[in-house]
Amino acid sequence: MRLQDRVVILTGASRGIGRALAGRLFREGCRLVLVARSRTGLAELAETAGFGNSAALVSGDVADPATASRAVGEALARFGRVDVLVNNAGVGLRGPVTRLGPEDFRRVVEVNVAGALNFIRETVPHLVDQGEGLVVNMASVAARQTVPFLGGYTATKAALVALSDALRVELSGTGVGVLTVLPGSVETGFRAAARGEPYPERPGAVRLSPERVAEEVVRAMRSGRPPRNLYILSRSERLGLFLGRLFPRLVEARLARRYGGGVT
Ligand SMILES: NC(=O)c1ccc[n+]([C@@H]2O[C@H](COP(=O)([O-])OP(=O)(O)OC[C@H]3O[C@@H](n4cnc5c(N)ncnc54)[C@H](OP(=O)(O)O)[C@@H]3O)[C@@H](O)[C@H]2O)c1
Repeated sequence: MRLQDRVVILTGASRGIGRALAGRLFREGCRLVLVARSRTGLAELAETAGFGNSAALVSGDVADPATASRAVGEALARFGRVDVLVNNAGVGLRGPVTRLGPEDFRRVVEVNVAGALNFIRETVPHLVDQGEGLVVNMASVAARQTVPFLGGYTATKAALVALSDALRVELSGTGVGVLTVLPGSVETGFRAAARGEPYPERPGAVRLSPERVAEEVVRAMRSGRPPRNLYILSRSERLGLFLGRLFPRLVEARLARRYGGGVT
């Protein structure tokens, strides 16, 4: 898709991957409707990046369906259309499955799954009416591999992948595409903002930069035929995924030796 002058609704735009993506899409000539809870975070980004009249800011919780309808209303009022939805807002949850608190789990499902669905429900009919458009869902490679202590979070990302896959088939022939993004570990404040138990310090951990993720997402969006699933991984993550598919029992046994041991 040619991105110049496209109107993009982007959730989770104030920090991390969303912030990098907002800057990258602006440089492509897109007009942006940026969504996050923090109004000051969005305003600071728009000011620093010099978005000017090219961006509308919508502060609200993606878990609230009213936020999605406000974002679409803003896109139509300010720019007269909407071409792309990027469901990027997300929250982490860490802890063993047996200790996942009901309130924490409900919240990550509400934000990561129902939140994305709120925006799909409001946006996709406009894309279908136009006969073209793109939905980008930010999942995670964790949806496709076993990650102890992240079961609650990865369950939400696996659900998002399933929604993405069904939506793609349902929209076939409408001109509206669906791109699922599965990044590995990215250097953002995501871990600090996560619910549940704190992430352990991992000094020296190799992580992708949010700019690299933004670059690869934009490249896929621009291509005439975007991939169904866009994996964005470091070399070791790619190897881990490959080995996990080839030798799942072996990899799980290794994980059990490393992390297991009677968690209740
Ligand atoms: N970082 C990683 O290692 C990694 C890896 C794979 C996938 N991902 C996925 O990539 C996406 C972005 O992650 P990130 O690393 O950029 O995280 P981040 O740095 O914590 O940024 C999260 C963004 O989402 C917004 N947000 C969070 N909850 C929201 C809500 N309820 N309503 C509206 N906006 C909300 C935040 O702004 P406010 O707080 O102002 O609302 C912020 O702009 C997430 O879906 C995450 O699951 C991340």
